[in-house]
Amino acid sequence: MKKKDLNPNQLSRRQMVKNSGLAMAGLSTTSLARTNASPTTTKQQVGKVALITGGARGIGRAIAIALAKEGANIVICDIAAQMSSIAYPMGNSEDMTTTKKLVEAEGVKCLSMQADVRSSTDLNKVVTQTVADFGRLDIVIANAGIANMGFIEQMDDDAWEDIIAVNLVGVARTLKATIPQLRKQNTGRIVVIASVSGRGGSPGMSAYNSSKWGAIGLTKSVAGEVGNNNITCNAICPTAIDTPMLQNDFVKKLWSPTNPTAAGLNEQMKGSHLLPIGLLDPKEIANAAVFLCSPQANFITGVALDVAAGSTARNTA
Ligand SMILES: NC(=O)c1ccc[n+]([C@@H]2O[C@H](COP(=O)([O-])OP(=O)(O)OC[C@H]3O[C@@H](n4cnc5c(N)ncnc54)[C@H](O)[C@@H]3O)[C@@H](O)[C@H]2O)c1
Repeated sequence: MKKKDLNPNQLSRRQMVKNSGLAMAGLSTTSLARTNASPTTTKQQVGKVALITGGARGIGRAIAIALAKEGANIVICDIAAQMSSIAYPMGNSEDMTTTKKLVEAEGVKCLSMQADVRSSTDLNKVVTQTVADFGRLDIVIANAGIANMGFIEQMDDDAWEDIIAVNLVGVARTLKATIPQLRKQNTGRIVVIASVSGRGGSPGMSAYNSSKWGAIGLTKSVAGEVGNNNITCNAICPTAIDTPMLQNDFVKKLWSPTNPTAAGLNEQMKGSHLLPIGLLDPKEIANAAVFLCSPQANFITGVALDVAAGSTARNTA
């Protein structure tokens, strides 16, 4: 066969050997060509804007920093005030300043606003300001939450209902305020931070567990409402995470009464995990959120993703 008879779609032996080596290295000639043509950033959210409620500290802060590392401009909002029914210190304005500095250190912009997720007025102001400053909104992380414990007949009605008002109604109001802008752009990602507490029952945590079961139901229902606009809506269900929500005297005394220390709490949590770990670092939840907002999760919607070290493997509903 003369050289000119070669079908241009046929590869030479030399070419095939070269390509099989590339395949073994996990590369393709196409992806290499692309890499050579534009040696651009590997950051996946450059030019995007992410709003994180409860972003002053804890899981919200970790997600804000992680999305900033991916190149997104960040909006954080937080109540930054104490609710009277909550027995541990909540986020404050210094925490918000710290998150803003940590986000900006990643080379992106950060808008920080005080807002209570129970208030649609507050949330609408956050969305209006976000669009005024950045011109768009791409990612919504409904993370703000509170915890309280007590047997149902021992808890004040107000304390019980505060949990539902923030962890369930607050998420619903966050989605209601933000979805119109996502629809306008005909694309978007919503991630609700639920909990493994939304996967089962826990004596002494009826309000919290009810709120998290509700948040998962809300996520799955809204996923069906926004899918036509290329918007995904998923929940993450974290196990016990090393944040101020757990690292406080109230929780340590309740969950680790014989050793109410950080180490005691950690040991206590190990018992419920299949993997050899106690409290997880908030970065583990941020990793899951970054994934759900990435192109790798383009067609994942309506799921509740456990990041739980196996704690839900035995009896998840
Ligand atoms: N820490 C855990 O073990 C754990 C486990 C599973 C799920 N979660 C959930 O993760 C989310 C974040 O929790 P965290 O551990 O980072 O707690 P955290 O207390 O450290 O941070 C929560 C933030 O939300 C803010 N917030 C509370 N109520 C608000 C409101 N009404 N409006 C606006 N902001 C408000 C707080 O001020 C605080 O800054 C919560 O929804 C929580 O239920 C936490």
